[in-house]
This record gives sequence, C-alpha cells and structure tokens, in this order.
Amino acid sequence: MTDSLVIASIDWHSVATASYIVAALLFILSLAGLSRHESARQGVAFGIAGMAIALAATIGVATEHAEAVAVVLLVAAVAIGATIGLWRARVVEMTGMPELIALLHSFVGLAAVLVGWNGYFSVEDNAGQTEVLGSLLDIHHAEVFIGIFIGAVTFTGSIVAYLKLSARIRSAPLMLPGKNYINVGALGLFVVLTVIFVISPSLPLLIAVTVLALALGWHLVASIGGGDMPVVVSMLNSYSGWAAAASGFLLNNDLLIVTGALVGSSGAYLSYIMCQAMNRSFISVIAGGFGIEAPASADTDYGEHREIDAASAAELLTGASTVIITPGYGMAVAQAQYPVAELTRQLRDRGIEVRFGVHPVAGRLPGHMNVLLAEAKVPYDIVLEMDEINDDFGETDVVLVIGANDTVNPAATEDPTSPIAGMPVLKVWEASNVIVFKRSMASGYAGVQNPLFFRENTQMLFGDAKAKVDEIVGALAADRVTA
Ligand code: TAP
Repeated sequence: MTDSLVIASIDWHSVATASYIVAALLFILSLAGLSRHESARQGVAFGIAGMAIALAATIGVATEHAEAVAVVLLVAAVAIGATIGLWRARVVEMTGMPELIALLHSFVGLAAVLVGWNGYFSVEDNAGQTEVLGSLLDIHHAEVFIGIFIGAVTFTGSIVAYLKLSARIRSAPLMLPGKNYINVGALGLFVVLTVIFVISPSLPLLIAVTVLALALGWHLVASIGGGDMPVVVSMLNSYSGWAAAASGFLLNNDLLIVTGALVGSSGAYLSYIMCQAMNRSFISVIAGGFGIEAPASADTDYGEHREIDAASAAELLTGASTVIITPGYGMAVAQAQYPVAELTRQLRDRGIEVRFGVHPVAGRLPGHMNVLLAEAKVPYDIVLEMDEINDDFGETDVVLVIGANDTVNPAATEDPTSPIAGMPVLKVWEASNVIVFKRSMASGYAGVQNPLFFRENTQMLFGDAKAKVDEIVGALAADRVTA
C-alpha cells in the first residue's frame, strides 16, 4: 500500500514536471506570437493554454499531500481570483488598461513578499528543515531576503504607478532634495543588510528590509514624471517577473523561475526599446529619474490663443490638398475614431491626401492609436509611424491634432528645461495650419504647458473631439449637397 502511494506520488511529480515544460514552451510561443500584429491572437491563445496547464499542474502538486480543508481553500481562492480577473478584464476600458496592469504587477510583488516571509518562517521554525538544507541554508536566506526586496519594491512602485495612471495623484515627478542619494543609499543599505542577514538571519532584519524596499519602490516611481510613465509600466512588468522568479527559487518551482525570467527579461528589453524611442536614458529611468532635475517655472506667458469653429475648420479642410491627422489620448476618451474615419473617407473622396501620424506613446498603451484606427477601419497604408512622417509636416496644408498634447509639444525640442525635453515629438507646428481638438487649455498627461496652442498657425477647436469631428463631417456633407 505504502509502495503504491510512493509510486503514485512519483508519477504525479513526473506529470507535473512534463506539464511545466509544455507550459514554458507555450509561454515562449506566446511571447513570439505577441510580437507581431498578425499573430497576436494566436500568442494570447498560447498564453492562456500555458497558464491553464501550469495552474492545473500546480494545484495537483499542492493538493497531493494536503488536508481536505486546504484543498477547499485553494479551490475557493482560485475561483474567487478567476471571477474577479474575468470581471475586471471584461469591464475595463482600453484607456484604463495600463492602470489595471500596474495593479496586477502590485499583486505579483505582494505575493513575492508573502512567499519570502513564509519561506523564512517555514525554515526558522522547523529545526528538521534547517538540517535538511544544511550548507544550502545560506543560499536559502539570500533567496528570502532578495525575494522580499524585489517583491516589496514592485508592490509599492506599482501602486504609485496605478495612482498616477488613474489620476488619483499628480503625475508630476516628486523632487525630494538629494533624491538620487536616497535611491543609491537605499540600494547600498540593502546590499549590506543582505550580507548581515546571510551570516546571521533575524526577524528585525527581515522587517527592516521589507520597510526599506517598500519605501524605495514608492520613491523610485514617485520620482518619475508623467511623460516617462510608459517606460515605468514596462519596467515594473520586468520587476514583477524577477519577483516571481525569486519566489520560484524559494518554492522550488522550475516553471515559476522560467516564467519569471521570461517576463523579467522581456519587460527589461521592452523598457529599453521604449527608452530609445523616447530618447531617454534607460539607467536614468530605472534609477527613479536619476539626473533629471526640477523643471523651470511653468509660468511662461505664451500670449493669446486663437479659436476656430467646426464650419470654418471644414472650409479650411476643403481648401487643402494635404492633411495629416495626429491622434492622441483625447481621441480614445471621446471614442472619436469612427467619425475620424468617416472624415478621412470624405476628404479622400474629394481628392485630398489624408495620412495619420502616430507617436509611439500616444494614448495610454503601446499601439493604442493603431488599434483604435484599425477598429474604425482606417486603411493601414495611410497610418504612419512618427519617424515615417515627421519630415513631411513642412509640406502639409492642414494638421488635425485630435486629443493629442504631449506628443505634439514643441517644448520637447525647444526648451531644454522642460520635463519632456529630448523626447521626440510630431513636428505638427511646421505645417501651414494646425487645428487642435480639445476641451480646454488644460495640459496633457505630463502636466506640461504646450506652446503649440499659442502659435500663429494654430487654432483651437474646443469641445469633445467626437462631437466636433461629427460637426465637421456634417458641414462637409451639407457642402456636398449644396455644391
Ligand atoms: P495627452 O498628452 O495625455 O493629452 C491628451 C489631451 O486630450 C488632453 O490635453 C485633453 O485636453 C484632451 N482630451 C481629453 N479628453 C478629450 C475629449 N473627450 N475630447 C477632446 N480632447 C480630449 O495625450 P498624448 O499626446 O496622446 O500623449 C500621451 C501621454 O501619455 C504622454 O505623456 C505619454 O508619455 C503618456 N503615457 C503614454 C502611455 C503609452 S504606452 N502610450 C502610457 C502611460 C502614459 P482637455 O482636457 O483640454 O480636453
């Protein structure tokens, strides 16, 4: 009887190991699929399949020797978590995706902290375990300490990112005096504490590193300005991967190590690519805005702005031969992509060349504008990336800036003291006429005033972007009828 139980348990572990290998391969295929538009759906399907297999195998291993009450608790936790996850994913607006992702990263961080603490107590309170680990005990202590540190930084960092992205706190960077020294000092202290903990582990040290890491995570992300938030989100994605990998070492779970490393390295690489696209130093951003100094006063007087109404905008458009539309976050909020697609059709029917210029961080998530325009059936071939179109604004008659702000801000190229200085932007101001669709003179996500609005060739069309584009479409249609 005992023999058959042992054999059954060995079999089960083999099944779990095989499942983990399959799941890991599916995750790799998923990442490969997600890297291209055409195969993205397939990538998601691979990811779901891998996660389902991983979850089933993990539950199987966990329940093998568990008491009935533990199994019930586990199943209940999975059911509650899955229900909340499904519900949130179904109701979330696309503009709310980054904040949801930031919140999910915070859960990974919190889980890593809890796993670390559990790892400490399960060994310290169990003399048998200490003996079993023997000379590996030092490594175990280092794993606990490092896992808790990465997890806690990810946890509070992600919460600050969530609060900033959901506009619950200001997105402007926190500029504590000597902020760079605070960050570097905290990292140095962590290294010292790790060495002490490995030599002589104790509960007060564990509490100290947890508090230190929670404060560091908060400060790191609070110090980064709104314009750099896209990089922060992918950086926290990377941290959450490393936190999961650290938990994998503690739980002796190979799949968690592999998956964590995949998320950690792909997130780091994505952060690097985004830093390059935004002309930001990778090290500066991951070190909490290292080297970025307080911006100059925002009280600059740019003069008066001019306004235009929808009928006059329609008139200006009918007289143009080249038009570029640069959409931004406001188009997503207003859901103006459908009337924008209709406007594009009408202008093209009149023989006017219409193209779109899409900034890499327009909106609130990578590819945000491309998805909206594709949804509204704007032809792919007239939707161009920033680098493909940025030299063409000088020969353009009319540019329609629809709910974009930071991504068309000339201060990025002209004012070295601006918080977004150096970030590449769409050079819309080089066109003969610029019409800016927005509801007020409010600043964009980075909280920076936009001198574009006060240029002589710029006119503001105030109101909800969808309503205003609809009005222009109506005016063009009426003009067709009377013509
Ligand atoms: P933003 O700079 O965010 O400006 C959007 C503008 O849209 C606002 O000035 C707002 O002005 C206007 N707006 C809002 N609702 C509107 C409506 N219903 N109708 C008309 N206008 C409306 O936009 P952007 O140029 O797309 O720049 C994106 C910013 O978000 C960058 O700073 C970027 O770094 C950051 N960010 C991007 C991402 C990614 S990955 N894309 C992730 C996180 C953060 P009013 O209030 O006056 O209407």
